[in-house]
Amino acid sequence: DFYLNFIKDDRYLWLLDGLKTTLIITVFAVIVGLIIGFLVAIIRSAHDKSGSFKILNAICRVYLTVIRGTPTMIQLLIMNFVIFGAVSINKIIVGGLAFGINSGAYVAEIVRSGIMSIDQGQTEAGRSLGLNFSQTMRLIIIPQAFKNVLPALVNEFIVLIKETSIIGYIGMMDLTKGAMLIQSRTYNAFWPLMAAAAIYLVIVGILTWGMNKLERRLRTSER
Ligand code: ARG
Repeated sequence: DFYLNFIKDDRYLWLLDGLKTTLIITVFAVIVGLIIGFLVAIIRSAHDKSGSFKILNAICRVYLTVIRGTPTMIQLLIMNFVIFGAVSINKIIVGGLAFGINSGAYVAEIVRSGIMSIDQGQTEAGRSLGLNFSQTMRLIIIPQAFKNVLPALVNEFIVLIKETSIIGYIGMMDLTKGAMLIQSRTYNAFWPLMAAAAIYLVIVGILTWGMNKLERRLRTSER
């Protein structure tokens, strides 16, 4: 049995093992979330709302409504027991997909707000230079929008790191679950949870520090 094997090990190893799972799932989910988020935001910001864009727009609206309107935990359970219910698949993938698809909805609206913050004249200038819609987005709008949404994106990733603690519901040992296992073995609830909290704090601290540096670097390219 997966958990019983840990009895023989030193207890701190459970936290380290859990930390590894937390980090892998978070990185997976951030990548999926960014890809979905940018795609949905760009589709939703297109002015030409005809033809295939109209259908894509409707799909994106349904996606945003459903994902933001239902709890992440239920989405995770559906992913595990319904979508991948009949197939045996690595739970890292199940979790990464569930959290990534969830985060993508929030990222999409963050990025869309960034795109809207860029003056319409920038689009007009790009189109006047002969760039098409996707070139204007990629070369002119997105680079400027990205800078504006970075703080909000960092917020989202901090939430995501901590949200992954519900992965315990589908039987994976992340940082939180590791702490709870130590708690159940030692009857000590306080220190294992305090240790887990301290580790989350350090991860979030490192992320924040790195993102602040990135933000400053992006700002130096401004006049
Ligand atoms: N825990 C809440 C939920 O289940 C909030 C999730 C917020 N997620 C986010 N990526 N901002 O819906």
